[in-house]
Amino acid sequence: MTQHQRLLIIDYGSQVTQLIARRLRELNVYCEIHPYQKVTESFLESFAPKAVIFSGGPSSVFAEGAPSVPMSVFDMGVPILGICYGQQLMMHLLGGKVDRGHDTAEFGRAWVTPTDEKLPLLDGWFEEGRERVWMSHGDHVSAIAPGFKVYGTSPNAPFAVTADPDRHFYAVQFHPEVHHTPRGALLYENFVKLAGFTGDWTMGAYKDEAIRRIREQVGDAKVICGLSGGVDSSVAAVLIHEAIGDQLTCVFVDHGLLRLNEAEEVVSMFRDTYNIPLIHADEAELFLGELDGVSDPETKRKIIGRLFIDVFQKHAGEVGGAEFLAQGTLYPDVIESVSFSGGPSVTIKSHHNVGGLPEKMGMKLVEPLRELFKDEVRALGRELGLPDSFIGRHPFPGPGLAIRCPGEITREKLDILRKADAIYIDQIRKHGLYDEIWQAFAAILPVRTVGVMGDHRTYDFALALRAVTSVDGMTADSYPFSHDFLAETSTRIINEVQGINRVMYDVTSKPPGTIEME
Ligand code: XMP
Repeated sequence: MTQHQRLLIIDYGSQVTQLIARRLRELNVYCEIHPYQKVTESFLESFAPKAVIFSGGPSSVFAEGAPSVPMSVFDMGVPILGICYGQQLMMHLLGGKVDRGHDTAEFGRAWVTPTDEKLPLLDGWFEEGRERVWMSHGDHVSAIAPGFKVYGTSPNAPFAVTADPDRHFYAVQFHPEVHHTPRGALLYENFVKLAGFTGDWTMGAYKDEAIRRIREQVGDAKVICGLSGGVDSSVAAVLIHEAIGDQLTCVFVDHGLLRLNEAEEVVSMFRDTYNIPLIHADEAELFLGELDGVSDPETKRKIIGRLFIDVFQKHAGEVGGAEFLAQGTLYPDVIESVSFSGGPSVTIKSHHNVGGLPEKMGMKLVEPLRELFKDEVRALGRELGLPDSFIGRHPFPGPGLAIRCPGEITREKLDILRKADAIYIDQIRKHGLYDEIWQAFAAILPVRTVGVMGDHRTYDFALALRAVTSVDGMTADSYPFSHDFLAETSTRIINEVQGINRVMYDVTSKPPGTIEME
């Protein structure tokens, strides 16, 4: 358990709860999100938060079995901030009144104006008279609880900002965590200041603590780590190596679906630069053999997932007696978000990971990045001295080029794709765009089209280029390249790569598209 000052976010199912955590981490405040069902009196006691935030959520406090919180939270003597549903819950429990929505529902942009009362939570706000906020509520508070006063109002939310400053209870109807509340971060900054947080969540401190915890957990046992060449598993590996040295062995499975020179780069970085024992499992024959003739996207993913586990297990055996398996699992993967749909969410794609491995192999897990968001992993990587060129790399999916080759995978197509992709990325780098783009890649389409080159007819593959901006890969926009850039890149690819005679740019956002083609 972390030694830092801790803030507890109770999740009532808002789509944007994770953003609250992001805003707080940006302030160097350590916080955890827990679903309301888990937050019992004893949980609150053992978590010992220095402050609590109630998230928003889709429920109504009138609903039967409406999400709630133990009353003991109000006796802990710590500041509490309620957001949207969190505000309504607070009022409902502390003696105020909530009314059902109907004609006062408010969604989207609204303006909050101040009242005559001053509140430290709002320091720096209302400098221009009013603040733009993002509202999303059906029900609303119609009478505030005893001890509370109103500090900000909007046309449809007369109680937009309320507080009982003596008890440090704060409640807002809007969502300060979203970008559409442009100065919302300031409210979080003021809130954690009022709660006495000193901003002790720094990467340097985290690194030292993580190293100590890994040593404690592992003792003198052996650890193996599946290395994909991506940022997460690489940072995990370097961190663990710093903690336990040669007790760690990495296994890098080359499934024949990597990008140009990728295997060499990963192997040289880990073996030569970091001196980390590494097994380079060259299993291209096996993977490409089993994928031969397969074109269904889910079948491809399943085959790759299964083979990856088999191969990893086979090579892990070479390490002999490893008790632990290290994984680069991140915080967004472990948050138990509240699901109000009542069932598992629809599977769009079966993302490939090594889930299931630890049970099969009777191993325990080491997951030193479980508390971190992606950009925090990058900061930790920098702290560990990994080169920027490596840390800034675009994400690359576990199934590799297989999902950038819709339809049947052949060696010919993979070779063409590798060359074209390398030129595309080279172009992006040359034009200084790499860091602006979240992820970029080429995909080879399962169609041939007619072209003409040097008076000859060609009948070659079409290539799609994809580049997106995103924060977390959950939603994405297509990157707005200039036409000149696209034309120059297309010319280079067609001139330098035999087998392609047509290049297209994919302008689909996510949703409705996904980032990868399959
Ligand atoms: P999609 O295509 O689902 O991709 O919009 C979102 C992000 O996830 C990556 N991705 C994967 N990463 N294993 C991974 O490790 C997978 O099976 C996988 N599928 C997609 C994708 O590259 C993008 O960054």
